[in-house]
Amino acid sequence: MDSRRIDRSAAPPPSAALDPPFPWRLRGREGFLHFFSETTSTMDEARQIARAGCPSFSVVVAEMQTKGRGRLVRPWYSRAGGLYFTIILRPDLPPEACFKLNFLASICLVRILQHRYGIEAEIKWPNDILVNHRKLMGMLSESSILSNRVDYVNIGIGVNVNNSPPETTPEATSIKLLIGEPAPCLPLLADFLDEFEASMKNLDDIDIISEWKRYAMPFGRRVTIVTTGEEFNGIAENIDSEGALLLRLADSSLKKVLYGDCFP
Ligand code: BTN
Repeated sequence: MDSRRIDRSAAPPPSAALDPPFPWRLRGREGFLHFFSETTSTMDEARQIARAGCPSFSVVVAEMQTKGRGRLVRPWYSRAGGLYFTIILRPDLPPEACFKLNFLASICLVRILQHRYGIEAEIKWPNDILVNHRKLMGMLSESSILSNRVDYVNIGIGVNVNNSPPETTPEATSIKLLIGEPAPCLPLLADFLDEFEASMKNLDDIDIISEWKRYAMPFGRRVTIVTTGEEFNGIAENIDSEGALLLRLADSSLKKVLYGDCFP
């Protein structure tokens, strides 16, 4: 059996009544929101919508994904009860500066968890959000560059809200587990869109690297970096001005890692 198939025999989460049925309404965002009760992946839908020329800050939200994607070609389990969305951006930024958008999104998410639930979360490079070393949210981004100009950057975010993380990922957690009761998804999405949009307007004034490091797991630890096909061990020393991880290898050389996953 395809492990990514949704188990429909599972009862809907008790939190289902906390959110209104789709389509959700968010004042001021009419015409920018695309809702799917079920889709393969909001990344697939967002790509099509972006290619068709949608405006910046369009958002695709799904209740369930049958082929939710994680980074490094991993599945992202997307049962009902979680928050799954992709935001389509058309930033006026050079391609090499687009990492700032992902960094900004993770900063906003950590702040919202703090304000709304008192949850103290940490960012693990590049953009995982963890609480007590367990993963609560993941982020995936895909972009299209045309003649060295950014056409779109799609940022997909998956939050374990009321969905039980699958048994295969004991290292995951959810908002429901952390606060001891179910939580609605809609206010989380609304907070995120508002805070992210407002912060994006000030992107030039923010020292994004320093701000991101305030919330990031401390550097100076031994880690394993996994990329598609390669693995490196070393000390995670810092990140550079492009958001790349600087890894001190056993032979004392410094390796710049632009893409990958980081494990303790
Ligand atoms: C990761 O941590 O590996 C990234 C997970 C990203 C999951 C989100 S859920 C919404 C969007 N649609 C997807 O298929 N993936 C992203």
